[in-house]
Amino acid sequence: MANILLAGGAGYIGSHTAVELINSGYDVVVVDNYYNSCPESIRRVEKITGKKVKLYEVDVKEKDKLDKVFKENKIDAVIHFAGLKAVGESVQKPELYYRNNIDTTLTLLECMKENNVKKIIFSSSATVYGEENKVPYTEKMKKGTCTNPYGWTKFMMEQILEDTAKANPDMGVVLLRYFNPIGAHESGLIGEDPQGIPNNLMPYVAQVAVGRRDHLTIFGNDYPTPDGTCRRDYIHVVDLAKGHVKAIEYSLKNNGVEVFNLGTGTPYSVTEIVETFQRVNNITIKYEYGPRRAGDLPESYANAEKALKVLGWKTEKTLDDMCRDLWNWQKNNPNGFRD
Ligand code: NAD
Ligand code: UFG
Repeated sequence: MANILLAGGAGYIGSHTAVELINSGYDVVVVDNYYNSCPESIRRVEKITGKKVKLYEVDVKEKDKLDKVFKENKIDAVIHFAGLKAVGESVQKPELYYRNNIDTTLTLLECMKENNVKKIIFSSSATVYGEENKVPYTEKMKKGTCTNPYGWTKFMMEQILEDTAKANPDMGVVLLRYFNPIGAHESGLIGEDPQGIPNNLMPYVAQVAVGRRDHLTIFGNDYPTPDGTCRRDYIHVVDLAKGHVKAIEYSLKNNGVEVFNLGTGTPYSVTEIVETFQRVNNITIKYEYGPRRAGDLPESYANAEKALKVLGWKTEKTLDDMCRDLWNWQKNNPNGFRD
């Protein structure tokens, strides 16, 4: 079976994808600089799968070191997760975001070329639909105006990958636009482990539940949505990981560029999801409504039909599953991988 290089594979989505790839019979090689993760996540992947994972501590921007990884392993395809992703931080430190996210992409492409690797799957984001497009988003829509440097890096990396594929017709590029990944592996051994105060909703909710934060502030309840709070397309990270297995299967057989939304197609509001978390886990989350957060769109959700039609992939897990599995991870690992 094919050997897949996971750049940024020790992170939240990468570790879950490693499990699903290994369980589907693939070999994986993980490269990470632990900027936002730690090797313990991969030890847990080994525990879940019962397989040894080849792991390199390498910054993907460092071409010589990355090239060595390619030379030491016969790589068939790359999945590029290695990016910085905190929207607010990207506004404060744009040069850090452009440098890391663009450079990792270019270095990977150069090493792929030199080592004759033709297939790459890229972690893009629904953020590229920008402000202008109307929900539900379809892959045919023109990309929009991003509201922050993080979003622009995704926009630019998609362009870099498209241009590279155009110049190299024997390449296969799959751009996966994730919606809002949440939840954790059902074993409770791996999950999202943000450093510092979480930027995203569900890790924050989980930290309130476990007593690390006093209460949640819901940012705005005066949006033009049914209950006034923003609606998002939350997707279970294991469903998302399985989408990568389908994308790998597809890319090993096809050249050119394809874009897929990975979402459920069903939006839930912030209030709905907080209430679901409380009901499913029989736990109280202290929350209050506060002002809107700058840059938030009222709604973001996918039309997920293309991934079903072309990849034969659709989500299987419910919002209840997402909330239950998140709490199972957090309560067993109150301090994440540092426990
Ligand atoms: P994560 O931070 O948990 O994982 C990213 C991994 O990349 C981390 O382990 C980090 O240490 C590593 N990394 C970053 N820069 C690196 C470098 N220069 N060299 C080597 N490793 C490096 O984030 P995640 O949630 O798993 O996201 C994975 C990818 O998916 C990212 O590109 C992110 O932008 C994208 N994405 C995430 C979301 C989301 O909500 N989680 C949504 C859309 C897109
Ligand atoms: N929210 C709160 N309180 C919090 C945190 C979040 O009310 O403490 C709300 C936000 O205002 C938003 C919703 O919860 O309405 C979801 O917020 P997240 O930060 O979890 O997710 P976003 O939809 O803002 O961001 C996600 C990814 C980004 C990506 C963006 C657009 O995290 O990487 O989708 O695709 F850029």
